[in-house]
Amino acid sequence: MSTPDSPQSVLRHDYAGEGLGEDRLADTPWQQLERWVAEADERARTADDVYEPRAISIATVDASGAPNVRTVLLRFLDPRGPGFVSSSDSAKGLELGGDPRVAANLVWPAMFRAVRLRGVVERIEEDEVAAYWSSRPYGSRISAWASHQSAPVGSRAELEERVAELERRYPDHGRPDDVPVPETWWGYRIRPHEVEFWAGRPSRLHDRLVFTAVGAGGGAAAQDVDLHPSLDDPAAWLVGRRQP
Ligand SMILES: Cc1cc2nc3c(=O)[nH]c(=O)nc-3n(C[C@H](O)[C@H](O)[C@H](O)COP(=O)(O)O)c2cc1C
Repeated sequence: MSTPDSPQSVLRHDYAGEGLGEDRLADTPWQQLERWVAEADERARTADDVYEPRAISIATVDASGAPNVRTVLLRFLDPRGPGFVSSSDSAKGLELGGDPRVAANLVWPAMFRAVRLRGVVERIEEDEVAAYWSSRPYGSRISAWASHQSAPVGSRAELEERVAELERRYPDHGRPDDVPVPETWWGYRIRPHEVEFWAGRPSRLHDRLVFTAVGAGGGAAAQDVDLHPSLDDPAAWLVGRRQP
């Protein structure tokens, strides 16, 4: 039987991070995001405490307004906004179809860093998604066809049977066009109106520097893609500090 942890036994880390001051903050959210993602990628290559540097949690709301969250991988990264791929008829795809508002979170605990984004998603152009699709390993392309993401399935064996069937339908010739892109396999680009850079510091006195798009409001206005400017336009963003 497990017993609750006593306050003394809870593992506490004091964040030895260097923090993030206004003097070192990049001029635009894009430049800061690109820098931190590159540093996390580098850390993943050189240390063993960052395993999946591009894992990002994506929060959506369902038709009743209830939140939902899951992790995906960042597959696109440019000043228009970070992007991921998923199935348009998955739970997240249907939720985003009903309400494009999204919140997302990248976190690198070993680096005492996190990035929070709030905005809307838009569909990534099909040619960009197709180019990325053809770079994926054969097995991943087959799995995308085999999985009706988020739908119930009776057993793992059922899924494996579907994979075997699809391998017969689309044999592996080692070519990028061996398997067509499923119609429901979409790219989603996050167009933020708010980007927060969080840097952990000792004694919980962390840094939080937040870029807010000029003119971005909450509520219905937040769904308007026009209020979600390029991440690399310095005139489009205001910077503020929030309490930790
Ligand atoms: C590290 C990690 C990476 C993942 N990457 C993706 C991804 O890029 N795309 C995706 O659709 N699901 C990805 N998943 C699975 C999702 O977390 C989730 O199970 C799936 O998308 C179904 O979510 P939904 O039912 O809310 O739509 C990943 C999971 C983990 C833990």
